[in-house]
Amino acid sequence: MNDIARAAQLLRAGELIAFPTETVYGLGADARNTTALTKIFAAKGRPADHPLIVHLPDATHLPQWAIDIPPSAYQLAQTCWPGPLTLILKRHPDVPDLITGGQDTIGVRVPDHPIALALLREFGSGIAAPSANKFGHISPTTAAHVEEELGRNTEHPVAMILDGGACSVGIESTILDLTSATPRILRPGALSAATLSTMLHSLVADQKITLTEKEKTTQLNPPDDEQTLPRVSGSLAAHYAPRTPLKLVPVDQLNAAVHNHLQLGQRIAVLALTHDLPAHPRLIHRLASADFSQFAQSLYANLRALDAEHCDLILVAQPPNDKTWLAATDRLTRAAAGSKSE
Ligand code: TXA
Ligand code: MG
Repeated sequence: MNDIARAAQLLRAGELIAFPTETVYGLGADARNTTALTKIFAAKGRPADHPLIVHLPDATHLPQWAIDIPPSAYQLAQTCWPGPLTLILKRHPDVPDLITGGQDTIGVRVPDHPIALALLREFGSGIAAPSANKFGHISPTTAAHVEEELGRNTEHPVAMILDGGACSVGIESTILDLTSATPRILRPGALSAATLSTMLHSLVADQKITLTEKEKTTQLNPPDDEQTLPRVSGSLAAHYAPRTPLKLVPVDQLNAAVHNHLQLGQRIAVLALTHDLPAHPRLIHRLASADFSQFAQSLYANLRALDAEHCDLILVAQPPNDKTWLAATDRLTRAAAGSKSE
């Protein structure tokens, strides 16, 4: 039996399987099996009220998981799936509460990775899969990262890790809520609000940014208040964090910050697009890319590598203050809040 067939069989037996997607590695379980779903929360140390994304073989499966599906969902599915886009829709009544965190919505996506798609087709149904890391920690983008995160967990073992190499996108999918009057981004990702808005020929509200005054006056149904936003664990202020304290530093203050921390006798790790740092035995530097896609693709691997140096501090140069970089800034801001940095 090949690995895909074995993995599908393990899913049917209620076991956990880690598998690659184009964004990050997922920790998968049969989305209809409540006992298997419970194992995901135990293995990750994740609170039970945080909803899970259901991965589907293709968009024809949507009616088994969601109801009142708007035409915009099929429109986006046709253009973006398989791909790094999660759609929030009204849940089907048969969906287990553990998937939805007790809410009346469900997150679904079709991942763009040959191994994920082969597994989904072989399994023939939805696979619930959060990122395959401990709750709040950096998402894994290689099979070795999954092993580091969950491999030693003998109490809640992962039955199999499918190795698909390094993920091509490198940060989690864009989450788009299609249940509100105006589609809105709940988690920024590689697919931006501008791109989705062009595809839909209508306004897509960016994460947290509600409408500008001008848009408000032309918009009959502005997005709901922050208060009513569904829970998105990736939206917690502290998330995606390394164990070493992490600080985001404006580019023009980076050299001074490095200098100050070295003066204090600290060991410093730096992720920045500059060759202009002093050579110093207590300074470790990883070169960041100036291109958003490449920056995102290597972001988590870079943070993991710097975390493994056991420095006193990781300094990251702030990405450009530009909508293209929103997802990178989002993850880094949460990483800084989640690390032990002051
Ligand atoms: O790229 C990805 O989306 C990866 C890969 C494995 O597919 N998965 C991922 O899963 O990032 P996870 O669980 O680490 O993050 C999924 C996010 C969570 O923050 C969760 O709260 C949110 O999706 N989510 C799931 N269902 C939701 C719902 N019904 N309403 C609002 N947010 C939801
Ligand atoms: Mg996650």
